[in-house]
Amino acid sequence: MKHYSVGILGGSGFVGSQIAYECAANGYSVRVFTRSRERCKHLLVVPGLSLVETNIFDQDQLNTQLRGIDAVINLVGILNERQHNGKGFRKAHVELPQRIIDACLFNGVQRVLHMSALNADAITGPSHYLRTKGTAETILHTTSPEKLQVTSFRPSVIFGPNDSFFNRFASLLKAMPVAFPLACPDARFSPVYVGDVARRFVQALDDETTINQRYDLCGPKEYSLIELVRYTAEQLEIKRHIIGLPDFFSHLQAAVFEWFPGKPFSLDNYNSLKIDSTCQQNSCEITSIENIVPFYIGSKGIQKKYDTYRKTARR
Ligand SMILES: NC(=O)c1ccc[n+]([C@@H]2O[C@H](COP(=O)([O-])OP(=O)(O)OC[C@H]3O[C@@H](n4cnc5c(N)ncnc54)[C@H](OP(=O)(O)O)[C@@H]3O)[C@@H](O)[C@H]2O)c1
Repeated sequence: MKHYSVGILGGSGFVGSQIAYECAANGYSVRVFTRSRERCKHLLVVPGLSLVETNIFDQDQLNTQLRGIDAVINLVGILNERQHNGKGFRKAHVELPQRIIDACLFNGVQRVLHMSALNADAITGPSHYLRTKGTAETILHTTSPEKLQVTSFRPSVIFGPNDSFFNRFASLLKAMPVAFPLACPDARFSPVYVGDVARRFVQALDDETTINQRYDLCGPKEYSLIELVRYTAEQLEIKRHIIGLPDFFSHLQAAVFEWFPGKPFSLDNYNSLKIDSTCQQNSCEITSIENIVPFYIGSKGIQKKYDTYRKTARR
């Protein structure tokens, strides 16, 4: 293995932290860029990792920070924007990759791994999120391959401890005592494990066959959203009447919730759910939710697994 230094943008988040750990564990020297060191103390203890507070949207600062780096991993992404016009999505998903390309060309950094999303498409994407993710892929993959060696990853929803999918539904289910009105209940997903995603990224760093490729990443099984929410309730061992909303009420829920603080569900999220997040050609498919989710959703889940383990161990 080459002894690379890797710069990670978005390396403090849920997926980015896992990729940062995996890079460090594989002997790479890692530089994680963040807006706030204070918020990512969990990374300070990782050997071979330095945490740099900087403004990655400032071209001069980005040019300086990528000096001496061999490969860049970009994970910066948002699910919601403050504005309601797509400007925030364009800034995070399109302007930033453009700045990354400029900084890479400025410093002679050739290797770029980019996090996109399943169904990202500049033209046909049904939401700002998916269109801007698609535009970023187009910009990155049409930059001269002699200058930039890009690999993009397009995952379905990603799960693991600290995810914002199962954990969010778990909090919502606990907060609603009797019934749970669920928008877009029939939307389909193939949840993929964060550890598998991180391994795919790190393997690609040194694998020339991945250059200029785009990989769809899904887990081994498909589920509807209502099945995943029912599964979450089962893990929590709580009884809730989960009511799948028809399309009109799903749209209405999004139109109302997008004005709530933190936008628990937005019209852009609703639009993203119009296409199933499942793979035709899957490049991941290893760990299933049943092997991981019970260990982090609900302490009873962990206890139950432990009790079963002890019983079988005694036999
Ligand atoms: N999680 C999923 O299910 C999923 C599925 C498909 C695709 N993805 C994609 O995977 C990537 C990572 O997702 P995640 O779930 O790990 O997200 P996350 O936990 O929210 O992390 C996002 C990261 O991006 C950085 N970031 C966000 N907005 C920024 C801004 N305006 N300026 C600078 N940095 C900013 C944050 O860094 P600081 O706060 O430290 O500055 C943070 O490290 C995203 O591109 C997302 O679209 C995720």
